[in-house]
Amino acid sequence: MTTPPMPEFPADFRWGVATSAYQIEGAATADGRGPSIWDTFAHTPGRIADGSTGDEACDHYHRYAEDVALLAGLGVSAYRFSIAWPRVQPAGAGPANPAGLDFYDRLVDTLLDAAVDPVATLFHWDLPQALEDAGGWLHRDTAARFAEYADLVAARLDDRVKLWITLNEPFIHMSLGHGMGVHAPGRMLLFDAFPVAHHQLLGHGLAVAALRARGTTPVAIANNYSPVRVSGETEADRAAGAAYDALHNRLFTDPLLGLGYPEELDLDAALVRDGDLDVIAAPLDVLGVNYYNPTGIRAAEEDSPLPFEIVPLAGYPRTAFDWPVAPDGLRDLLLGLRDAYGEALPPIQITESGCAYHDGPDGQGRVDDPERIAYLDGHIRAVREAMDAGVAVTGYFVWSLLDNWEWAEGFTKRFGLVHVDYPTQRRTPKSSYAWFRDRVIRR
Ligand code: BGC
Ligand code: BGC
Ligand code: BGC
Repeated sequence: MTTPPMPEFPADFRWGVATSAYQIEGAATADGRGPSIWDTFAHTPGRIADGSTGDEACDHYHRYAEDVALLAGLGVSAYRFSIAWPRVQPAGAGPANPAGLDFYDRLVDTLLDAAVDPVATLFHWDLPQALEDAGGWLHRDTAARFAEYADLVAARLDDRVKLWITLNEPFIHMSLGHGMGVHAPGRMLLFDAFPVAHHQLLGHGLAVAALRARGTTPVAIANNYSPVRVSGETEADRAAGAAYDALHNRLFTDPLLGLGYPEELDLDAALVRDGDLDVIAAPLDVLGVNYYNPTGIRAAEEDSPLPFEIVPLAGYPRTAFDWPVAPDGLRDLLLGLRDAYGEALPPIQITESGCAYHDGPDGQGRVDDPERIAYLDGHIRAVREAMDAGVAVTGYFVWSLLDNWEWAEGFTKRFGLVHVDYPTQRRTPKSSYAWFRDRVIRR
């Protein structure tokens, strides 16, 4: 697909792709890896759309050299991956399992040899099952365990990692994992899931302190954002929109940037101990922004357990996930962050942006994905527009390098620039891979 030339980006703008451990690694029991909440959840009948698990996923654990060669061929300057806590601490506590860290050591060195900056996420949802058995993120102690784990990883890799990302999308882990029961660990606590927010944030702050004590590598967090589109004209609709915005967009970012918790949300004051908010507000070098779509909101029915109702947004093309394709949402979100936080806002990197379509090879074995090219083209232009309006954005990572195991959707959603045929593990770069290389990165 041909698209008009991309506007210029600064020469040092970070172009990358992102993945996460449980979604690609496989090798679920290799080298002493312990079980995580995602192993348990995926092996529970009825939880995953196609009944699959991440036991093998993309077998990246054994094929990482081939995957780094794909990164080098793409020409990205950075690769965002995540470290599996249960490889490093199989039971969630105690000394590091050296064989688990060895894998990331090899990966990082292979990336550096290929001139690709390693960007490492410490927690992308795969909590060691032993910690879940002790209460998981509902339990304050998990925050301290996370900081100890961060320290073990930094002791081994801080000399070579170029950016640390503490947590991936604490909002999604709280809401889908603990509020709605759609993700591991499968709890349905609705607003009683708020301790999971506070304890993840506290874990983040303690981990930042541990990372700062180890070295000078910049530190970020990757939040999920979804600008709110209010559907309806009433005061109640607008209030519902504000409530949803506080929950999805502000619950994590306000305390991270020193504003404390949004007043709209009724967090149990007993959760927050003296000094916690200072730990959480430790300065960040980068704010990671993951964006997929805006959310339509209107006032809830009288008997609803929630103070808002999510409604489909009409008038947009849709992905295979049925998510609306709305690049303007990314621009609005970036401008909204700037307006809301001003000077307190660190430089932003888009740590995830991408889409699922039903891609597959044609008769010649080519995988053509013009919808993904259109999606990325629109979203990269939206970033440029926000930069032109004065928002500091210094990087953009496509989700994802490879088609992979998409959580509760199993293998049914393909997000990759590279197609994966799971029975053979054959990798085939899609047309979006060549487009990203030629029209964006090397342009
Ligand atoms: C959100 C996405 C998020 C996903 C998690 C969606 O509803 O819009 O941003 O990544 O849920 O699977
Ligand atoms: C919303 C703001 C919000 C900001 C940060 C914007 O899209 O409209 O209300 O504070 O994003 O997420
Ligand atoms: C997550 C990814 C996920 C993607 C698409 C984000 O919520 O960080 O792990 O695959 O969105 O749903």
